[in-house]
Amino acid sequence: MSEEPLVLGIETSCDETGVGIVRGQTLLVDTVASSVEEHARFGGVVPEVASRAHLEAMVPTIERACREAGVQLRDLDAISVTSGPGLAGALLVGVASAKALALALGKPIYGVNHLASHVAVDIVEHGPLPEPTMAMLVSGGHSSLLLVPDVTNDVRSLGATMDDAAGEAFDKVARVLGLPFPGGPHVDRAAREGNRIAIDFPRGLTTGRDMERHRFDFSFSGLKTAVARWVETRQRAGETVPVADVAASFQEAVVDVLTRKALLACKEHDVDHLLIGGGVAANSRLRALAQERSDKAGVTLRVPRPGLCTDNGAMVAALGAQMVAKGREPSDLGLPTDSSMPVTLVQA
Ligand code: KG4
Ligand code: ZN
Repeated sequence: MSEEPLVLGIETSCDETGVGIVRGQTLLVDTVASSVEEHARFGGVVPEVASRAHLEAMVPTIERACREAGVQLRDLDAISVTSGPGLAGALLVGVASAKALALALGKPIYGVNHLASHVAVDIVEHGPLPEPTMAMLVSGGHSSLLLVPDVTNDVRSLGATMDDAAGEAFDKVARVLGLPFPGGPHVDRAAREGNRIAIDFPRGLTTGRDMERHRFDFSFSGLKTAVARWVETRQRAGETVPVADVAASFQEAVVDVLTRKALLACKEHDVDHLLIGGGVAANSRLRALAQERSDKAGVTLRVPRPGLCTDNGAMVAALGAQMVAKGREPSDLGLPTDSSMPVTLVQA
């Protein structure tokens, strides 16, 4: 093996069939086939539809990744794959494919955690991760605050959402406002024309005893309900709903809480690097406010480019390459999928 391990990563935890190839800390290719359009008319991801789409997309996506990277499968040093958390059937397609490749090629396989992969991907964007790094992952399926001393085997959970994930709140509010699914990018766009202090929406778990008991936890369902009530009241009175103002004020409530808690965690754990990942990290206001508050706190902010924040194969390859580089033992070829894999378990 050359000094820099060549790793192919497979991601199928939700609706994206992602195949990425990384050499050491360098991204060679990131290929994604998404079934998001097949789910749009249902207003959310349909697991069985996602699994079938993964099955159809898997081989062509692997072939395309290898072709675009100029890599032969036999040159790989290892295969890595998301073993959880995620949709059970969707995970199975990725893990079964990775096992078949590993077995046929006689290569080691690493079954890795989807959330740790969201953290590791920033290595191919901004270089080695300072140890420890504070990581906030915000997507359609998760919202967590993680203290990460070593992304290959030591990830600690400081807090998570008690109800809706941040992206889920964006998607639900978008629906209330009559915007398409997935709603995050549409709310982001609408908010640019709106006034973020027009409506004072609630900031969940940020005051008094909540801050003692749920210091680094999040709750967005109260906010979502408050937005829905506010909109309904206007509609019932026959008034037009100021979509841009509602979007901007809702978005401000979410990103205010996220950035406040993330920087408090940095301060209390004496960590001076904050990484934000997951689909919601593409949000323009989250990026701006996180930058502003990090600068003020003397914290270095790392946010991967939007394409690497949403689910992709590069992140799984990036974590796999770290595993190999750090000499971690591969997973067993019989490795399981685990739809509720705890965030603290980096490898299956
Ligand atoms: O990480 P991701 O692609 O998939 C999951 O693992 O969930 O995240 C998708 C989520 C969706 O809820 C989507 O609405 C949200 O990320 N999202 C955004 C933006 N772009 C995507 N939310 C807010 N602002 C955005 N610009
Ligand atoms: Zn994700």
